[in-house]
Amino acid sequence: MFTNVYILFGFLLLFCSVGTSKRFPSYIKKCHQSDPHIKHCCIKALDSVKQHFANGIPEFGFPPMNPLVIPEISLDSDNSFKAAFKNVTIFHLDTLEVKDINFNLQENRFELKIFFPHLRISSIYNIQGKILFLQLDGHGPADGNLTGVDADVTLQAQRYKKGNNEHLKFSTMEIDEKVHKAIFKFEGLFRNNPELTEQTNKILNENIDEILQELRPSIHLAIKQTVLGLISRLFEKFSVKELFPE
Ligand SMILES: *[C@@H]1O[C@H](CO)[C@@H](O)[C@H](O)[C@H]1NC(C)=O
Ligand SMILES: *[C@@H]1O[C@H](CO)[C@@H](O)[C@H](O)[C@H]1NC(C)=O
Repeated sequence: MFTNVYILFGFLLLFCSVGTSKRFPSYIKKCHQSDPHIKHCCIKALDSVKQHFANGIPEFGFPPMNPLVIPEISLDSDNSFKAAFKNVTIFHLDTLEVKDINFNLQENRFELKIFFPHLRISSIYNIQGKILFLQLDGHGPADGNLTGVDADVTLQAQRYKKGNNEHLKFSTMEIDEKVHKAIFKFEGLFRNNPELTEQTNKILNENIDEILQELRPSIHLAIKQTVLGLISRLFEKFSVKELFPE
């Protein structure tokens, strides 16, 4: 008798744990492929996802994202400039506005137009080398505010089979972004010279568009690795049919 109860209990536990690991969060609406308003449905679904950025979405394998902490990012241009940023902390990702979304599920291609009114990025930086006409060698806390960030994002996936189910693996991400205004502050650029540090910060900010342009390829690579790393967990867990039922 007791044995049977234990066995039953064991089965229930097993069943429940399998169940939870695959459970789709009830607060996120699924969009059906046959829905004539699927675009609108997806915009709404993404809107409901962002409300859960603060705590993360364990069912999707998403960590807390408000703020999102990236342990380390490296940026360089040619061989003359190297920057490493540790504990990169991005605030206000939940201000994300999805302006438009287009996708072709047959071609596994997704296009999004998104907007962030405000992002703040703090980190510990280590910069060495020449950028524009400035020779830099410093480390310390860095803080930055980006206002009005528009981005067009194109994601391309390939299908693969896992058991009997088809999944998406995203390999390519293209970004075309426009930052309305960016202000950065690098503390301790010249360790014993606060005045020179302040002057240099001023010059950096006056030329921020050119600097961001020069670092664009490595900024894009860092964003791509972060975003693809995040969404790969979701698409590994759920098949195409589970995410977009017919
Ligand atoms: C990382 O940065 C955040 C935000 O500035 C800060 O709260 C946190 O203490 C930092 N963590 C480490 C390990 O430095
Ligand atoms: C970024 O914005 C915050 C909050 O408005 C402010 O406290 C901080 O000083 C700003 N940082 C820079 C580098 O302007």
